[in-house]
Amino acid sequence: MTRKLLITGGAGFIGSHVVRLFVTKYPDYQIYNLDALTYAGNLENLTDIADTPNYHFIKADITDEQAIPALFAQYGFDGVIHLAAESHVDRSISDPFAFLRTNVFGTTNLLNAAKNAWKGNFEGKRFYHVSTDEVYGALAFDGTFFTENTKYDPHSPYSASKASSDHFVRAYNDTYGLPVVISNCSNNYGANHFPEKLIPLSINNIKNNRPIPIYGKGENVRDWLFVNDHARAIDTIFHTGKNGETYNIGGNNEWSNLDLIHKLCEIMDRKLGRAPGVSAKLITFVKDRAGHDLRYAIDSSKLQRELGWKPSLQFEEGLDKTVDWYLQNEAWLEHVTSGAYQKYYEKQYK
Ligand code: NAD
Ligand code: DAU
Repeated sequence: MTRKLLITGGAGFIGSHVVRLFVTKYPDYQIYNLDALTYAGNLENLTDIADTPNYHFIKADITDEQAIPALFAQYGFDGVIHLAAESHVDRSISDPFAFLRTNVFGTTNLLNAAKNAWKGNFEGKRFYHVSTDEVYGALAFDGTFFTENTKYDPHSPYSASKASSDHFVRAYNDTYGLPVVISNCSNNYGANHFPEKLIPLSINNIKNNRPIPIYGKGENVRDWLFVNDHARAIDTIFHTGKNGETYNIGGNNEWSNLDLIHKLCEIMDRKLGRAPGVSAKLITFVKDRAGHDLRYAIDSSKLQRELGWKPSLQFEEGLDKTVDWYLQNEAWLEHVTSGAYQKYYEKQYK
């Protein structure tokens, strides 16, 4: 089988791992990485595969109503894995419209382009929408989990925009028969994570002896999944998931932010040759995030039972590997923090 697969947001954190997995695992597929290269898009995430014959980069914005249908006509994509999004909750609080535009309008523009290009001939076609557990709202400290049947209850502009995009995906399935599949995943961590998010921000700050900002009391709980395990789940669901279905993906690794940061400080002390307890002195409690969801926890038993996926790494091992990656890839981090990464496209493609 030859596929012409459009992956959106492939220059971002998770997208780059998905692109690498598909380019290397499926040499018969043509992989088109479409990305607008916002501040979060970094082609330095993909330098190792940039010259692979089945990899193609397209700089485009998913909200572009002319360009997106034209690209479907030009390349004849028969599958879509849609990851492009505005992804940072704090940014959604200061600029909700950017999230509305990309996450809601952009997703609908892609759905519509796929529907029009495939013209009701859906044999061998698939539109896979990558979503988040944040659409389900927040859990109490009561041992419950988000399942695929949990009622949507988003609280931030980010999660509201992702919830809305999920609804549009289901509406295109119900109304036009578009073959879709959705997954809702918990917090990812690993290599190439943009250092505005808790783990890479903290690694960078600890390394540079800067304060580690903990929102509120640090009691909020997240369920952490190693990014390569998410990429493997996407591969499994894209190829074997059922049309119209939703699959929750999670690591079963619940950590409060404060416990997580203490664990990270221990690892950093060890790897940087610091005395135990030195990095933890950088912990600084700051004003809480507005509308801060208390706890996320995913029940991924449907995916495990029906499609046979399971996470490969426990959190402490994954966190250790992640710290190693950041310490061994200082140039990547330096290019992100200095802004040099944004010049890569001009150098490589112009
Ligand atoms: P990211 O912010 O690292 O990357 C997003 C990518 O999308 C960037 O490369 C950016 O340039 C691109 N992009 C943004 N707006 C665009 C537009 N208008 N047109 C084309 N490209 C655009 O995000 P991420 O953390 O890799 O998340 C990827 C997807 O996975 C998102 O849909 C997110 O909601 C979802 N998700 C993320 C997590 C997580 O923990 N990071 C967990 C569950 C689900
Ligand atoms: O649950 C999946 C979601 O995980 C994804 O859909 C989002 O795209 C992704 O960004 C992530 O959202 P979070 O808001 O959970 O991630 P973030 O790294 O921003 O924050 C993790 C927790 O740490 C959260 O409780 C807020 C807290 N935090 C975050 C930052 C950046 C701090 O205490 N201090 C910080 O400086």
